[in-house]
Amino acid sequence: MVVAGLRRLEYRGYDSAGVAVLADGGLAAARKAGKLVNLEKELVERPLPGGMVGIGHTRWATHGGPTDANAHPHLDNAGRVAVVHNGIIENFAALREELAGRGHVLRSETDTEVVAHLLAEEFSATGDLAEAMRLVCRRLDGAFTLVAVHADQPETVVGARRNSPLVVGVGEGENFLASDVSAFIAHTRSAIELGQDQVVELTRDGVAVTGFDGAPAVVRAFHVDWDASAAEKGGHDHFMLKEIAEQPKAVADTLLGRIDASGRLTLDEVRIPAEVLREADKIVIVACGTAFHAGLIAKYAIEHWTRIPCEVELASEFRYRDPILGARTLVVAISQSGETMDTLMALRHAREQGAKVLAVCNTNGSTIPRESDAVLYTHAGPEIAVASTKAFLTQLVACYLLALYLGQVRGTKWGDEVRAVVRELARIGEEVERVLETMEPVRTLARSLADKDTILFLGRHVGHPVALEGALKLKELAYMHAEGFAAGELKHGPIALVEEDLPVVVVVPSPKGRSVLHDKIVSNIQEIRARGARTIVIAEEGDETVVPFADHLVRIPATPTLLQPLVATVPLQVFACELATARGNEVDQPRNLAKSVTVE
Ligand code: G6P
Repeated sequence: MVVAGLRRLEYRGYDSAGVAVLADGGLAAARKAGKLVNLEKELVERPLPGGMVGIGHTRWATHGGPTDANAHPHLDNAGRVAVVHNGIIENFAALREELAGRGHVLRSETDTEVVAHLLAEEFSATGDLAEAMRLVCRRLDGAFTLVAVHADQPETVVGARRNSPLVVGVGEGENFLASDVSAFIAHTRSAIELGQDQVVELTRDGVAVTGFDGAPAVVRAFHVDWDASAAEKGGHDHFMLKEIAEQPKAVADTLLGRIDASGRLTLDEVRIPAEVLREADKIVIVACGTAFHAGLIAKYAIEHWTRIPCEVELASEFRYRDPILGARTLVVAISQSGETMDTLMALRHAREQGAKVLAVCNTNGSTIPRESDAVLYTHAGPEIAVASTKAFLTQLVACYLLALYLGQVRGTKWGDEVRAVVRELARIGEEVERVLETMEPVRTLARSLADKDTILFLGRHVGHPVALEGALKLKELAYMHAEGFAAGELKHGPIALVEEDLPVVVVVPSPKGRSVLHDKIVSNIQEIRARGARTIVIAEEGDETVVPFADHLVRIPATPTLLQPLVATVPLQVFACELATARGNEVDQPRNLAKSVTVE
């Protein structure tokens, strides 16, 4: 049961894995470097005794390399306590020294191991694992989720949480603890979210939650509306392929009930008072990775439709440059997982400065929405593949909805252009579906480029972030050198990279309405082609001007310019996925990455 749960959580890290079970009055553990499958093999060769209480972990290495010895669970010297941990214990070096001074022998390079030893000491003093955990947590600095068992209290599992996530699954005669609900939805859909600085004591029939100080805590119970099959591959070779295919539905689900027949938007969950939205004089978007690219696109829509200045910033950079924020700043934190530490820290900083924070998030009950003033959920369903696809499209949809809603609340007078966008947005899922139906030539092309070293991506306007996302997908999945550029910037430097037969993907804007932009990019295509580039052109159906300059042409449906990323990104996802497969890479779990990065 523990290993099956870990399989669902492997997206969080897969440098090593381990389990510990309480059985026959003792504690037995197995740990293995590498993916979960290595641990599974080990458990077949050297089975652990069966027990009723167990813990497990998949690791994304922070302190100490991905070795067997550094894999969790970590045990104390007597082998009576086992602990697993997510996050970073910042004062571990001092604690290690202190423990060594008292005769403890530390056998790994991890920050985690100190917790096992400290728990063993406190348990000897108190005879109660939950109390021992509270005492230990009060001594730890940093971010951590901890789960521990002790052979002398064999009916109990104790968890603790500061910053990193931890949820309780409430079953009948059985209870669960996990970093996210997908680990236990096969068993129960009743869940309880733990708050900051809380300790939970779990037995077969009981869940008791306190603060680190021992005071009973108020918790929030919720029902998980994902079903277990949503977290399975559904006949696809990879989760990523399944998730790419699910995009029309994910987009439609995110729109559901939010635009009525007359084009009015209802975003009831945006609990920020209307006057705050009306008086906002600046919007700042913070996000990481793919979510950051969604933010870059959102800026175009927000500024064009609402005329509110909008900045987009990498969450990891945000608070360190002392940004100018105030009560009239609306900060939008975009995060699929709702747990990205960089984004969480950025939003905390924003709130400390008096700004209001709205989260755009895919994971109910996660930390970022909980700590925000309001949340706009994307309804992509569980995204398991590490490289984000359907979450990205739904983040775009949510941002468009938000921009339009801001305009509505502020009484912006829109012309036909925006009314057409609203109509088009409401049915954009069908256009995404049409793109997916025509992807075979993209796959063939991708396979033919498997031995290339570099691929460049160009775009202008919203096509620029699309180019960045196309390049990121390729880096993440195919481990190829890939870069995205604003096409107009090419001549200021990157054009020096262009050489004979270098593949360059160009995202061409709609020829309608924005002809200046369109014609300029057609010139850019000619400039690189004249220097030998092999041009892969993504252009609207009916755009004939690009035909003479395209070595490969990928057609996408005509959409209003601002919505084009919803259709233009899809071929780039398929392209990267196919190239990764052709290069023999793991599609769902690219090397060195983790889906939810809960360290800064
Ligand atoms: C990690 C993942 C990326 C993701 C980013 C932001 O780096 O590998 O795929 O885009 O985190 O994740 P979030 O959950 O905050 O959207």
